[in-house]
Amino acid sequence: RKRERSVVSILNERIPKDMLDVLRRAGEIAEELGVEAYVVGGFVRDLLLARPNLDMDIVIEGDGIAFANRLVQEYGGRVKEHDKFRTAVAILPDGRRIDVATARLEYYEYPAALPTVQLSSIKMDLFRRDFTINALAVRLNPKSFGKLVDFFDAQRDLKDRNIRVLHSLSFVEDPTRIIRAIRFEQRFGFRIGGQTERLIKNAVQMQFFQRLTGSRIFNEFKLLCEEKNASRCIVRLEEFKLLGQLHPGLELNAKKIGLLEKIDEVLDWYRLLFLPEPEPDPWMIYLLGLCSEMNDAEVADLTDRLNFSKRDQREFLSLRESVSTAFNRIGGWISRSGPLSELCLAIETLPAEGLLYLMARSTREEVRKGISLYLTRLRDEGIAITGQDLRRLGLTPGPAYGEILRIVRAARIDGQAEAREEQLALARRLVKKVLRKKSADMPPASRK
Ligand code: CTP
Repeated sequence: RKRERSVVSILNERIPKDMLDVLRRAGEIAEELGVEAYVVGGFVRDLLLARPNLDMDIVIEGDGIAFANRLVQEYGGRVKEHDKFRTAVAILPDGRRIDVATARLEYYEYPAALPTVQLSSIKMDLFRRDFTINALAVRLNPKSFGKLVDFFDAQRDLKDRNIRVLHSLSFVEDPTRIIRAIRFEQRFGFRIGGQTERLIKNAVQMQFFQRLTGSRIFNEFKLLCEEKNASRCIVRLEEFKLLGQLHPGLELNAKKIGLLEKIDEVLDWYRLLFLPEPEPDPWMIYLLGLCSEMNDAEVADLTDRLNFSKRDQREFLSLRESVSTAFNRIGGWISRSGPLSELCLAIETLPAEGLLYLMARSTREEVRKGISLYLTRLRDEGIAITGQDLRRLGLTPGPAYGEILRIVRAARIDGQAEAREEQLALARRLVKKVLRKKSADMPPASRK
């Protein structure tokens, strides 16, 4: 066996103390149980890349479920067991989740065409994974705590910035790994290696991707859209001819790529605002961009392929529709040089995803500025008067209430009624107008 390098000092430097305690304690528990414990996967990769990652995956050579239960006995919390795969999630009292897997030789089926070789169970567990950079492990048992287990030259790939599969059937076994390869490549600024690239092209040509269910593809697409530079990931999908395979209408051109890049920028901007509300779903915005040159029937085909439920499909089509209505109204607003309140009226029913898409889509500075103002301020800014005030002014509750409050709000947005008194004065004028009109509309007999 190769000499194993120690990463204890890196752990001490880069991992928060409470997490480090859990790792050390996990090793002691494993020792007591007479099994070997490892922390594996993305946690180790990100440790070596000096990127924060709080998701711990532990692999036990032995019974993972028993181990998870012991861990929780010490820390409190609870265990969710998945008996079928002998895996468990330990959920600690602070909400932290630790995934625990069991590495046991009898669970592994070799990919049919690979030669059968005898491997230790941790090695086999790691060999089944997607890429070398995700197939590193760190020993946790006390005597060897912090020793880096690298069976597949992953350290070299991290250094050379290389995404490389562990064996030639990797994409046949799991075609979603093609999208994962692209995601990691763009996230870390790595490059898919030559041989791995050939395997991807081969899998695409053999239409292995076509065998995936729509939900699996859609899931990977969603994850890809969470990446900071999703537009580049999408361009890579196209380079591997995956977009066209999914639907011909998705194929890219310079205009669409420009739009996707704008979406990256707008999302970056929005994330930096740290608004205290549910985050928008990036996939919706990118999908709006990708479908921007397709008709509704084509979009329905695509969402069918992606296994959208009927309801989600309707929702997405209706988002598309309201975005396009708003886009046209904004066009009118620009040509009339209308007041800001009119822009707000055109976009106020849109969810954040629709607003951000329109910001990315628009080439006019005043539109981008207006929407940004709306998102950051105007959207949540109410007015200082309420229906109660209207009632005090003598108006009986009815549809006129909404109309008047809307007009007052518009005046406020346009800077014509900032203070409560101004808003009240405007409301009084409007109420008078309504009352006058009402009495004029009454039939002559009842007017007496
Ligand atoms: N994995 C795999 N094949 C897949 C999905 C996952 O081999 N199709 C393996 C990878 O080795 C990965 C581990 O399962 O390290 C955990 O998966 P996940 O949590 O998705 O991966 P991370 O590497 O932690 O990725 P991220 O940083 O995006 O969470």
